[in-house]
Amino acid sequence: MTVTKGIFPVAGLGTRFLPATKAQPKVMLPLVDKPIIHYVVEEAVQSGIEDIIFVTGRGQAAIENYFDLSFELEEFLRTKNKTGELEQLNGISNLINPCYIRQKAAKGLGHAILVARHLVENEPFAVFLGDDVIDSRIPCMRQMLNVYERYHCSVVALQRVERAQTPSYGIVKPRQIDERLFQVLDMVEKPSPEEAPSDLAIIGRYLLTPEIFQELADTAPGKGGEIQLTDALRRLLKRQAVYGFIFEGTRYDTGDKIGFLKATVEFALRRSDIGEDFRAYLKALAL
Ligand code: UTP
Repeated sequence: MTVTKGIFPVAGLGTRFLPATKAQPKVMLPLVDKPIIHYVVEEAVQSGIEDIIFVTGRGQAAIENYFDLSFELEEFLRTKNKTGELEQLNGISNLINPCYIRQKAAKGLGHAILVARHLVENEPFAVFLGDDVIDSRIPCMRQMLNVYERYHCSVVALQRVERAQTPSYGIVKPRQIDERLFQVLDMVEKPSPEEAPSDLAIIGRYLLTPEIFQELADTAPGKGGEIQLTDALRRLLKRQAVYGFIFEGTRYDTGDKIGFLKATVEFALRRSDIGEDFRAYLKALAL
């Protein structure tokens, strides 16, 4: 079955990025001149996923406005003959079919996905965490879809991390299938380096079979009183195979201040319009 739907749970409180996230969604912070969420939606579209379900929380109307038309602004640009800006503005909203659903309380990532259950029903679907911006030749989700199309099982995106970093991630116990592909035998949420079953961390891209919904519904609140996706995935892998795939590309954790700054600098350096000037500025700074 083709995967056409992507869930974007964006209802988290973004505590790592306070105070900026007090009054605006963290995925609306810009990397150079586009909000973080724009890059992630681009990855979805380039992977063939155009039905985008945003799971939002209170105070996140900016996301909805961003993917909508802005009549006054467009009219203004049209009268000023600013066609480049106009195209940029419309580009992404014309490509997706967005849908917004509210998670009334931040009860965890697993709960956010469950909120979208009736919009997905019995189809496999993708999950994109807006914090993770992935720069790659082949879009990360497209790479994962290639695995899904071969095995028809849930697939989680993996990245190798330093042992000291395992307390920040869900870590898998793997059985290697080929260079980048693993069967997930088990997974542990935020283990200490000593307890971690490997150095393979799950990052913010998932392709899930619809059976995950029942597992989420049957999962009791775990760490922090939240319904954890990892707990539901552990239940799922007792019934179905779950695969992990080390994607090709670079991931930026933009929900973290340093990760955000690294992405900003690297994306700015790559830009044809400002990259050269910015490089010169950084060089001068480093002297
Ligand atoms: P995080 O664990 O990164 O939490 O959520 P957070 O609130 O966004 O950020 P920090 O850690 O406090 O700074 C992982 C993903 O799950 C979503 C978040 O928006 C993020 O994309 N999420 C989390 C929800 O949609 N709802 C929740 O209740 C919790």
